[in-house]
Amino acid sequence: MNWVLVTEFPLSLVFAENGMLEMELEGRKITLAKWEQGYYAFAQKCPHASGRMASGYINPKGQVVCPLHRYAFDLVNGRNTTGEGYFLKTYPVEQRPEGIFIGFKPNSFF
Ligand code: FES
Repeated sequence: MNWVLVTEFPLSLVFAENGMLEMELEGRKITLAKWEQGYYAFAQKCPHASGRMASGYINPKGQVVCPLHRYAFDLVNGRNTTGEGYFLKTYPVEQRPEGIFIGFKPNSFF
């Protein structure tokens, strides 16, 4: 796993009101979400029909909901929790003393 520093502490990131922001990191377009005390990273686009996940919202169960057709996905494992059978690509996130890191598998471009 290649761990990439997203931002140092104190955070310089500005999250939208829905707790999400889009960024490009290591050539990948991703969404970073802040929910309760944690940070979560996943693909920029929905696996169903490419809705922009950062334009959706995080529901009270901690699932990200796509803005187009309202399919919901687990923030940690990307499992589609509304039963349609899709998986949202997710990335591991670590909060370390020096900042927030996202892990990418070597030679993985998705
Ligand atoms: S594009 Fe996301 S639910 Fe359809």
